[in-house]
Amino acid sequence: PARYRTVHFQQMKEAGGKFAMLTCYDALTAAIFDEAGIETLLIGDSLGNVVQGQSSTLGVTMEDMITFSKAVVAGTDRAFVVADLPFGSYEASVEQAVASGIRLVKETGISAIKMEGGVEYAPHIQALTAAGVAVIAHTGFTPQSEHVLGGFRVQGREDDATQRMVQEAQVLQEAGATMLLMEMVPAEVAAAVDQALTIPTIGIGAGSGTTGQVLVWQDAFGLNRGRVPSFVKRFAEVGDALSDAAKQYREEVLKAEFPDDEHSF
Ligand code: KIV
Ligand code: NA
Repeated sequence: PARYRTVHFQQMKEAGGKFAMLTCYDALTAAIFDEAGIETLLIGDSLGNVVQGQSSTLGVTMEDMITFSKAVVAGTDRAFVVADLPFGSYEASVEQAVASGIRLVKETGISAIKMEGGVEYAPHIQALTAAGVAVIAHTGFTPQSEHVLGGFRVQGREDDATQRMVQEAQVLQEAGATMLLMEMVPAEVAAAVDQALTIPTIGIGAGSGTTGQVLVWQDAFGLNRGRVPSFVKRFAEVGDALSDAAKQYREEVLKAEFPDDEHSF
């Protein structure tokens, strides 16, 4: 079957269906997730944390996004592949956003870009869309603004949060966003936003009322053995499997059990 397109996610929403997104940063992992049926893969700027070992996403560059995005596109046949516009690549002007979005699509083969920000980015979304770049808007907690937001906090807890977030989402939809991702938002608020929009929504720490869900795979599947956010469910302990494999490999090398005849020329 052909690769997923925006229209398929629109159809899923209209049919009352759900879909799954995972982060991904390399070709082999991408091939596994693609084969497993994950509908959409995100080269998140979370690669700053989980691949590059940094304490935030702020240092991630366009070059980083291009390197890892190419790998994920190469590893997939089916998944709708999305990449983040990194911090500093779109905020200065509509022109900067369009140039960065086009570059990311042109140099990697991804199907859409994701951009953090609210109504102030409606003009950017409109111009990107007009230029042929599909945009997923990202609201709620936006990690690139951690220093303005005062750390990792649930957004949309104020009394009129639902009204504010619905209005914001409608502006982004009107600007041309193909989907809306909400991070760390109360479940009720996110559900209300999904219901108010015609476009699909994707949630992370946003309850079950969004059309799709996304998680950082290293957090959800246990490659990251450090602290993970409370909204992350552990579906596997890949880190333990790797650790066991490494220990066994070392033991066999030290005892001269590996390589044996079968693995020698
Ligand atoms: O960078 C990322 O992985 C993300 C998701 C957490 C939504 O933006
Ligand atoms: Na991100």
